[in-house]
Amino acid sequence: MKPTRPFHQTPVITIDGPTASGKGTVAALVAAHLGFHLLDSGALYRLAALASVRYDVAPDAADELAKLVGDLHITFREGLAQLDGVDVSTEIRAEAVGNRASAIAVHAPVRAALVARQRAFRKEPGLVADGRDMGTVIFPDAALKVFLTASVEARAARRYKQLIQKGFSANMDDLLRDLRERDERDSMRAAAPLKPAADAKLLDTSALTIDQAVEQVVQWYRALQPRA
Ligand code: CDP
Repeated sequence: MKPTRPFHQTPVITIDGPTASGKGTVAALVAAHLGFHLLDSGALYRLAALASVRYDVAPDAADELAKLVGDLHITFREGLAQLDGVDVSTEIRAEAVGNRASAIAVHAPVRAALVARQRAFRKEPGLVADGRDMGTVIFPDAALKVFLTASVEARAARRYKQLIQKGFSANMDDLLRDLRERDERDSMRAAAPLKPAADAKLLDTSALTIDQAVEQVVQWYRALQPRA
């Protein structure tokens, strides 16, 4: 049976999954294909991580971090992320920033401080949101929920390529170790752990090209639309 949604509700497609599963790339392409807005929620956690370094707030100081996050001056424009009016799009992609993001993301007050900011991205004609808890916590009423997976080796290889392309140095053994650690921390935390929503569709991208993954998501979404 097809899920029904009230006509006034802006559609959301959530794409969650572990680190380097390809969700960011797939989400951006699905959004472009459908003409939808895009929320890269990981970028918010990365910006918060960067701010915590700049303002010297320890990764375990949950309440102080939540206050910092609540006050963050962030803008996203044409694919660029700004912190306090300065473009930090490249800086936030560093592995060290991702690891710190994962460390501060364990705190429930930090996550709570980001909820309204994330929901504000839901605008007509629709939104594609990628992250860890988009389908479980932020947009539980999403029209389509996708959980992307891929083997840890496939993900490490992708992340390696991505980092080298962005001009960062990378080492495969370190990446594999970091990915496993990050998977473990993201899945085991009490607050919004990484897990597929009960109603999510699973998509293993280990053996798929990006285009095939995008096509599958678009096809699932189209299948939900009432026939004209
Ligand atoms: O690119 P990658 O998948 O490694 O990470 P990301 O999506 O940019 O997110 C960085 C970190 O933020 C993740 O390791 C998560 O711990 C955290 N995060 C989260 O907790 N919830 C989200 N919705 C998005 C990211």
